[in-house]
Amino acid sequence: MRAVDLIRKKRDGLELTGEEIGYLIKGYSEGTIPDYQMSAWAMSVYYQGMSARETADLTLAMAASGDRIDLSSIHGVKVDKHSTGGVGDKTTIVIGPLVASCGVPVAKMSGRGLGHTGGTIDKLEAISGFSVELGQERFFRQVNEIGLSVVGQSGNMTPADKKLYSLRDVTATVESIPLIASSVMSKKIAAGADAIVLDVKTGSGAFMKTLDDSIRLAKAMVDIGTQVGRSTIAVISDMDQPLGYGIGNALEIQEAVATLRGEGPEDLEEVCLILASHMLVLGGKAADEEEARAILRDKLDSGAALDRLKMMVSAQGGDINQIEHPELLPQAELHVEVKSEKSGFVESIQAEEIGIAAMLLGAGRETKDSSIDLAAGLTLRKKIGDPVEAGEVLAVLHLNRPYEDRLEEAGRKVKEAYGITDAKVPNRPLVFALVTPEGVRRF
Ligand code: URA
Repeated sequence: MRAVDLIRKKRDGLELTGEEIGYLIKGYSEGTIPDYQMSAWAMSVYYQGMSARETADLTLAMAASGDRIDLSSIHGVKVDKHSTGGVGDKTTIVIGPLVASCGVPVAKMSGRGLGHTGGTIDKLEAISGFSVELGQERFFRQVNEIGLSVVGQSGNMTPADKKLYSLRDVTATVESIPLIASSVMSKKIAAGADAIVLDVKTGSGAFMKTLDDSIRLAKAMVDIGTQVGRSTIAVISDMDQPLGYGIGNALEIQEAVATLRGEGPEDLEEVCLILASHMLVLGGKAADEEEARAILRDKLDSGAALDRLKMMVSAQGGDINQIEHPELLPQAELHVEVKSEKSGFVESIQAEEIGIAAMLLGAGRETKDSSIDLAAGLTLRKKIGDPVEAGEVLAVLHLNRPYEDRLEEAGRKVKEAYGITDAKVPNRPLVFALVTPEGVRRF
C-alpha cells in the first residue's frame, strides 16, 4: 500500500477501506507517512467528505493509537458527557455531581482549555488543593465509592488524533465534519464510556455557527457511536451568547455551586437538566426525560447534588470551605465596569469576543504553555433580551494588576460584543434539536 494512492483515491471521491484508513493512521503515528502527505489527504477529505463507515473506521483507528481506558471495574452503566466547547460552559461541574447523586457513575476525563474556551480541569483547579491527577486505581476506587471523579486526560490517549488535529490546525482542514466527529469520538471511545451524551453547541461562540451544520456534526457523531456499539445522543444547544453570567475559572466554579444550590442562572440550570436527564435515561435510572427531570429536581432541591460535589472535592484534596463559602475562591484585585453607550435591548452577545476578552484578562491560555490566572474573567450583567439604559453596566471585568495593560482592549471587545437594538427582542430557545440514532427532532 502507498499513501500517494490513498490520497489520489480520496481526492477522486472514492471510499477508502478500513484497512486503508488504518494504514494511514498507523503510518502517520509512527512517522513513516510525512506531514505533507497527511495534509494532502486531510484536504481531500475536506472536499470529498467521508462515508459513515469510513468515519467510524477513522475513529476506531485513532482510538486504538494509544491507551484505552477499561472502565469495567466501575459498577453500573458509565455515561459520559461531552460538550463541543463554548464560553462560560461549566455544565460538567454541575452535571457530574447531579447525575452521580442519582446513582449514575461519572468517571470523567476532561481537558484543559486553549484559547477562548476554558477547560473543566482548569476550572476545578481554582479550588485550592484540588488534584486532577489521581492515577487510574485511585480514580476507579473513588468512582466506586462516591460515584464521581473528574480528572485530567491520561498522557497517551489518542496520540494519532493529537498529531492530526495539530496538523489540521495549520493546514485549514479543521472545519470538516467527518474529521471533527472522528476526532471527538475517538477520545470518547478511548475513555471507555458505555454511553455518550453530546452537547453540540451552535452559534457565534461555537465551532459550528449554523443550526444545519451543527445538526450535521451531531448526526456524524451519533452515527459513529451507534456503529461502534456505544449508545449516543446529541443535544444541540445555544452558544449565541455565553452560558450563565460568569466567565473565568473561579467565577465559573462559583456559578456552578450556585446552580447546585438552586440559585444559578436559568439558562445554565435548564441546559444542565436537559443533558443530565438524557444521561439518566441512558444510564437506566429513568424511563424517560420527564421521570428523569423529577428525580434530578429532587436531588437539586434536597442538596444531595451539592453534597456530591463536596464529596468529590474532599476526595480529591480540595478545600470544601470554598464550596460552602464561594467568596473564599480566588478573587481578582480589580473590578472594572463596562458600560453601555446606548439605550435599548440586548440583541446579541458575540460569545467568542467575550471569551477572547476573558482570555486577555488572563482567564485563558493564548498558547499551550501560557499560565492562567484563576481569579480573572468577567461577569455579564446583561443577557440577550434584557433592556439596557445608556450608562448602565453591561459586564464587570475581573483582573489582577499584571494584566492591567490589557484592560482597554478587553473592555473594547466586551463593548463591541454587545449588539443593542431599539426594538424588544424575542426570547431565544436554549435547545434547538435532539439527534438520536432514530433521527432528528427539531424544537
Ligand atoms: N475538537 C476536537 O477534539 N477535535 C476537532 O477536530 C475539533 C474540535
